[in-house]
Amino acid sequence: MISKVNVFFILMMVMGNCLFWKAYMSQTFCACTECSSSSEDGWFKKRFDKSVQPLLSANMNFSVDAFDWWKKIQSEQGSFDLFERTVHDLFRMFPPKPDVKDHRPDYCRTCAVVGNSGNLDKSHYGPLIDLQDVVIRMNGAVTKGYEADVGTRTTHHVMYPESSVHLDESTHLVLVPFKIKDIDWLIKAFSTGFFGRSYAPVLSKIKANKNLVMVINPAFMQYVHLKWLEKRGHYPSTGFMALLLAMHICDEVHVFGYGADSDGNWSHYFEKLKDKHLKTGLHPGGVEYGLIQELAKQNKIRFYKGF
Ligand code: C5P
Repeated sequence: MISKVNVFFILMMVMGNCLFWKAYMSQTFCACTECSSSSEDGWFKKRFDKSVQPLLSANMNFSVDAFDWWKKIQSEQGSFDLFERTVHDLFRMFPPKPDVKDHRPDYCRTCAVVGNSGNLDKSHYGPLIDLQDVVIRMNGAVTKGYEADVGTRTTHHVMYPESSVHLDESTHLVLVPFKIKDIDWLIKAFSTGFFGRSYAPVLSKIKANKNLVMVINPAFMQYVHLKWLEKRGHYPSTGFMALLLAMHICDEVHVFGYGADSDGNWSHYFEKLKDKHLKTGLHPGGVEYGLIQELAKQNKIRFYKGF
């Protein structure tokens, strides 16, 4: 006869097994036909590293190596110590943990990442973009007047101080910091007002929901530059970082609005090109576009080329 103690141990083993599989499945799988972060093949496996945290949180340890890479991208003069103190101040004002849902084996979280390319013009992608759970836009992106092509919803808006715009109460502000002053700007733009100078005008105060603020981790920016761009270009574009962010937080990623015009310029769907010599700036536009095409070929993203 099975004793009560044996029954207890058998139950504990079954429960342990269940918990193990739940944890294993939630790390590995999702309910999409193809989960974007599953990495069995070599090319993708070599580049994608789900252990790198895309967003800062209060309890994170920072690496001096990542800081040393980061401080070179816009000639940061401040020390690692100042960086750590500024991040500490940041989390006195904003949520200590980014509002990101865990991957679940029984759910397929979809992301639309919408770059600003002029190829969105007359694309009629709007309804498809609005269908996705998460809709990520960036910099000066506008929807008003362009709804049929770019949709209406924005759950996340990626920006830096010089590209900042006001947001509505339901949109996450995602800051890409390129220097310590950018983190300082975020703190002040939500409190006293920022009156410092930069290479371009910045909003002194911003309208956005303080509880939905997130900040890209400089170590994530370094990872995108090292592992994905293989150090090509000065640093990754906001759009390419937004795309990788989507791959880390979503299970299925739909990509719209990426691609230079026929002269190689990153022209926008919402304005006439002002500077025809701008091309893709400091960013390796061609390399990024090649990677987007390869990701699509390998079924890691769905890429909508536009018109
Ligand atoms: O030009 P802007 O930086 O505002 O655009 C946001 C992102 O959209 C860029 O960082 C780039 O990745 C992408 N983009 C593109 N082709 C364009 C315009 C923008 O791929 N013509």
